Amino acid sequence: MPSALVYISPEDPAERWRDALVPVLPEVNFTSDFHVWPDCKDTQYDPEDVDIALVWRPKPGDLKHFPNLKAVINLGAGVDTILADETYPKGVPLVRLIDPALTRHMSEFIVHRVLHFHRKFHVYDQMQRDHDWRELIQEDTLQKRVGIMGLGTLGTDAVRHLAPFGFQIAGWSRTEKRINGVQSFFGLDNLKEFLARTDILICLLPLTPETHGILNAETLSQLPKGAYVINSGRGLQIDQENLLVELDNGHIAGAALDVFCTEPIPKNSPIWDHPKIIVTPHIASLSSAQSAAQNIAENIRRIRRGETPNDLVDFNTGY
Ligand code: NAP
Ligand code: GLV
Repeated sequence: MPSALVYISPEDPAERWRDALVPVLPEVNFTSDFHVWPDCKDTQYDPEDVDIALVWRPKPGDLKHFPNLKAVINLGAGVDTILADETYPKGVPLVRLIDPALTRHMSEFIVHRVLHFHRKFHVYDQMQRDHDWRELIQEDTLQKRVGIMGLGTLGTDAVRHLAPFGFQIAGWSRTEKRINGVQSFFGLDNLKEFLARTDILICLLPLTPETHGILNAETLSQLPKGAYVINSGRGLQIDQENLLVELDNGHIAGAALDVFCTEPIPKNSPIWDHPKIIVTPHIASLSSAQSAAQNIAENIRRIRRGETPNDLVDFNTGY
């Protein structure tokens, strides 16, 4: 019976995840049954022994080396790069990460960015650099309309943290939601109306064929003049060129971007120095091995007992 784990991540060293998993999976022999791809090609092990792959942005084709996979566990929330791999082994369940720390840290990021724009700290930052002492008119929080695209695990938690400030909150999702105090818009038919009532737009969508480029010249222009855009979903959801046009013509007042079409952003990209863009390097919320280890261990046990793992990705919707 295959019963070895393989870790595949071209970016993150395996040690952090192995060290977090060792104490919560005492039944696993991490010396003989935990392999790190592709290093393990040089060691004595049989890829046929691997039943579960733990992955973060594996390279296309990596997973096809393991013929007996029972499941793939993604060590982050977004599964877009995995689903884009045409060689993904057919029929093998894919599990995504839902973890309280990942959720909490995203909400911190969103609250910080929303308050930053709402309280005009981006303008005060510039005023300090200009030695300019003035008061700016401050709109009341109760009048400020925040709109969140994506009301899943992260979007719903962001709502929970923003609501106590008193913002008028709406969400846009594929299916209708009933969340106290939140206006629910759903489906493409309602997108225009949702955008038209949104002063601060937050994108927390998964990247799928439907959400690719969803914020483009047409939809960005449907936001009210002076709106702000916060993107911590995926870079390809915003047409970067169109966003730059809307920022430069003053329709969009500012953007806080954590994710980009090309990561890292090329050194010569105009994004880096744009006065209306705040850049962070895809750090809105980083997976915490320490926090996520228990859930991952539980899923490994479920898979090995032949049970359905928690937090399965739906291959039809792509998230
Ligand atoms: P989730 O729980 O799967 O929720 C996704 C939400 O998006 C759902 O509300 C879903 O609608 C909505 N949605 C999907 N496709 C849609 C469409 N075509 N039209 C309208 N709404 C649509 O995902 P999550 O855990 O909240 O994570 C969201 C994304 O955040 C991830 O996929 C990842 O790309 C990104 N992320 C970024 C970072 C970072 O550091 N920047 C960290 C973690 C995650 P329904 O509810 O109706 O299904
Ligand atoms: C990070 O971007 C994630 O999807 O977890």
